[in-house]
Amino acid sequence: MDDIKLSNFNSKSKDEVVFTEDRIALVSGGTRGIGRGICEILKRAGATVIAGYASDDEQAKKFTRETNIKSIKWDVSNFQECDNVVKEIISEYGTLSILVNNAGITRDSTIKKMSIDQWQDVINVNLNSVFNMTKVCWDEMTSKHFGRIINISSVNGQAGQYGQVNYCAAKAGIIGMTKAIAQEGARYNITANTVAPGYVDTEMVAAVPQNVLDKIISTIPVGRLGHPQEIARAVAFLAREDSQFVTGSTISINGGHHMY
Ligand code: CAA
Repeated sequence: MDDIKLSNFNSKSKDEVVFTEDRIALVSGGTRGIGRGICEILKRAGATVIAGYASDDEQAKKFTRETNIKSIKWDVSNFQECDNVVKEIISEYGTLSILVNNAGITRDSTIKKMSIDQWQDVINVNLNSVFNMTKVCWDEMTSKHFGRIINISSVNGQAGQYGQVNYCAAKAGIIGMTKAIAQEGARYNITANTVAPGYVDTEMVAAVPQNVLDKIISTIPVGRLGHPQEIARAVAFLAREDSQFVTGSTISINGGHHMY
């Protein structure tokens, strides 16, 4: 199957500037993989972007050097750290208008072998984080009467995946949570949507054993992994001011892997 030309995504001239600089976007897990793609496209579209990361200082420095996007280290599974970081951003930039809950981890194992820690770590980082971050942004977004919340789920939260009961539970939970947030946010011009990527060319997917990954790719009708930019484009669309009527939705981007 033919791959698409990446230059289609990377050409600056093709990006429409739709955000003003006072649209402040925070992207958790933003220094690598899909998160990095999201940061870059939002910046090119005119927003002021801040990327979050958990531990890899060297990678974060490299990211900031290459993109000129600020990165901040905090633990999305820790409510107090989320509260502190959002307060700092609001005090420095004046507001926070776009929240992309992208940070996520895998601790794959069959349920027979899965430890309580593997279960809890994934639920804390992938699901509780979405509550933490949304909660600490809520007062600011309601008072400004604007918010765009985009939560990154996964095809595996929709279809299930052998060896991922923890990840699938968290990613499915995100879909339900997003629909509830959408209902509560509508009166404040806050939208909440889920983007559910399939298997994308990232370090996370590269960690899947090659023989297992080859089998998975053979079941993807488009016949390849996705590119981070193919996910990022949908996030940028959802973040736009004129996307207000799109709320509570789940956009699946998976090369036809699962048709929901
Ligand atoms: N369906 C049915 N049976 C399966 C299976 C499947 N999908 N995958 C494995 N099995 C079977 C194997 O054939 C094997 O059976 P036998 O012993 O009878 O041969 C048995 O299950 C054990 O398989 P493994 O040898 O692979 O077991 P393991 O304990 O070494 O590893 C695992 C298990 C960690 C789950 C490994 O299979 C794995 O890493 N799978 C990939 C999981 C995956 O797709 N993760 C996605 C990460 S990327 C991501 O999550 C991003 C995103 O959003 C898409």
